[in-house]
Amino acid sequence: MSFSHAHLLGIEPLAPQDITTLLDRADAYAEANRRGDKHSDSLAGLTQINMFFENSTRTQASFEIAGKRLGADVMNMAMQTSSVKKGETLIDTALTLNAMHPDLLVVRHPQSGAVNLLAEKVNCAVLNAGDGRHEHPTQALLDALTIRRAKGRLHRLTVAICGDIAHSRVARSNILLLGKMESRLRLVGPPTLMPAGAADWGVEVYDDMAEGLKDADVVMMLRLQRERMDGGFIPSEREYYHRYGLDPAKLALAKPDAIVMHPGPMNRGVEIDGTLADDINRSVIQEQVEMGVAVRMAAMDLLAQNRRQGLG
Ligand code: NCD
Repeated sequence: MSFSHAHLLGIEPLAPQDITTLLDRADAYAEANRRGDKHSDSLAGLTQINMFFENSTRTQASFEIAGKRLGADVMNMAMQTSSVKKGETLIDTALTLNAMHPDLLVVRHPQSGAVNLLAEKVNCAVLNAGDGRHEHPTQALLDALTIRRAKGRLHRLTVAICGDIAHSRVARSNILLLGKMESRLRLVGPPTLMPAGAADWGVEVYDDMAEGLKDADVVMMLRLQRERMDGGFIPSEREYYHRYGLDPAKLALAKPDAIVMHPGPMNRGVEIDGTLADDINRSVIQEQVEMGVAVRMAAMDLLAQNRRQGLG
């Protein structure tokens, strides 16, 4: 086994072997969850605090279920974004929490880098549940597990990540992870939603869906992140759907067995056709949610194990 990290702050610091270790353990949890063998004591006696400074339904619920299945004492702190002032407040909050001796701290924050800053101030394992436009490592890991289970591998698969790449931490973490695992990556979207410099990342960049989806094994759609846009990035939602929304006609350009993914929450009729999203022959969106619990169980289990062994 190889995974000697103290925190899970992003995909960037992970080696391919770390990713494989996480995915293998998550796969075992996914199977156990399906068998109904859902409970273990691997986090018994440990305290997990979920601190979400930004709204979330599925990620917070997923971390909570994961912790409870492993026997941790789980607490959710309701953090109001509006009351959060930069820097000082975050550090004060961290120090206050630290004094309560948590073992695992799960943090989502609207500012890129905030979770790394917090990890420097506390002496427990910190898991990044999404920070600004920076990283969302457990999302990329659950996406990778879903792909690996559907396709049997990650290397030499053509993965098209489509839509609002520029504002997406999900895209960033996925690009890092799939790059490390030697997938062939394509980024597809309007130039206004493509990050500056994307062409230098060793990926193919397309502004045309027909070209970008051609022969893809995996089509990953992203939400238009309106809350992170401060101007007119797209002409209209209708026009956007026409050019970049995934519908059966555009999907027909990908491989016949291509899978459709979306991290949620979805804007049906904006980036994806609602019927296609629900088509269980093509869409693995519900499986992504299922794998989310398994990946979070694996990540917290490995971090807790490292703490016990004084690693990381
Ligand atoms: C994503 C997020 O919050 O970064 N959602 C999620 O975690 N399931 C993507 C999004 O908000 O569009």
